[in-house]
Amino acid sequence: MPNGEEEEMVVTPWTVSGKIDYSRLVEEFGTQPLTEDILKRIEKHAGELHQQLRRGLFFSHRDMDWILDTYESGRRFMLYTGRGPSGPVHVGHIVPWIFTKHLQDVFGSKLIFQMTDDEKFLVNSGFTTKMSTGFAYDNALDVIAMGFDPKKTQILMDIKDVGVFYELAVTIAKRITFSTVKATFGFNDSSNIGIIFFPAIQAVPAFLESLLAGENVPCLIPAAIDQDPYWRVTRDVASKLGYFKPAQIHCKFLPGLGKGGKMSASLPETAIFTTDSLDVAEKKIRNAFTGGRPTVEEQRHAGGDPFICPIYYYEYYLFEEDDERLQEVCDECKSGELLCGDHKIMLAEKVKEFLKEHQKKREKAKDVLEDFLFKAP
Ligand code: TYM
Repeated sequence: MPNGEEEEMVVTPWTVSGKIDYSRLVEEFGTQPLTEDILKRIEKHAGELHQQLRRGLFFSHRDMDWILDTYESGRRFMLYTGRGPSGPVHVGHIVPWIFTKHLQDVFGSKLIFQMTDDEKFLVNSGFTTKMSTGFAYDNALDVIAMGFDPKKTQILMDIKDVGVFYELAVTIAKRITFSTVKATFGFNDSSNIGIIFFPAIQAVPAFLESLLAGENVPCLIPAAIDQDPYWRVTRDVASKLGYFKPAQIHCKFLPGLGKGGKMSASLPETAIFTTDSLDVAEKKIRNAFTGGRPTVEEQRHAGGDPFICPIYYYEYYLFEEDDERLQEVCDECKSGELLCGDHKIMLAEKVKEFLKEHQKKREKAKDVLEDFLFKAP
């Protein structure tokens, strides 16, 4: 898939391309924009507005107001998020996980984290189940490295744990027609029947806690907006089965290091993987596209454009927490004071620091992996 922005926007769980118009997605997917009122309510509980909310990275929702009503009336809600283990984790994937961890800290919620090794086996023609399951266990180390509470977090490995949830999966699947998933996901006569059934499996964790607890537990799903088709189907089924509709809070996509396009594992030279060596990460950043001018003279004279620049976006989304410092960087870029080469070095230092720490945590996670794996009650 070309990495440009000229193509038509496509956002599905398996393909994100073209220039993303987030307002159009809110309209087309039928979600709600995150309002000031909701942000204020979250801020009240958190004590401050998380960077990803302050910077508009999370931008849309369904029923977030209901989740807050529920919590404010003294009821708990659970969190559900996940990963399709098709390779190493990149820093785009961890965006919703950082926020999920924040929500767990603030609201004390239990989290079910689903590893869809079945999905990735089904959609990648060259994959064996061993490959996707292998990545699932590897990626679980990244999840644990985010700092989730081991007492409140369970990682569900689809292929291993299917016995726990198969009954619920078929109960869900019976209420979804082929025509619905065809219209929602674009399946056709050449789609394998495994992937046609799969939306029922991704719906499972939204109801699993309710099933196991024997009472309806509200569920909130933080994820990028590419996963939304799954939730549309899940929400349709919920009322038919007597469960609450799961709520969602959606984030935008962290861009790749190239010109336009989201960070994607299929373009490894423009993605920073959590397992990249520090040298490799630095090299990728040095080779990144920027919003700069062709020559230093032009840059000094006319300034750069931070709003098309992945280097600036990385600071904005992940690596510069301080709003004032971020504004300075933005101004210095626009005025031509900050040159792209220097900005790349600044970012590379921050990314390397992050990777060094994250990789240490990944190593430590090996000792506690077992504690996080889903245990049937
Ligand atoms: P996957 O592995 O494609 O993506 C994992 C999570 O990362 C989000 N994401 C991104 N966020 C910001 N910037 C990006 N460039 C970027 N790329 C991906 C995805 O939205 C997702 O939240 N089918 C799912 C696995 C899954 C799941 C879930 C995800 C199962 N249950 C519940 C979220 C919530 C998948 O393949 O995700």
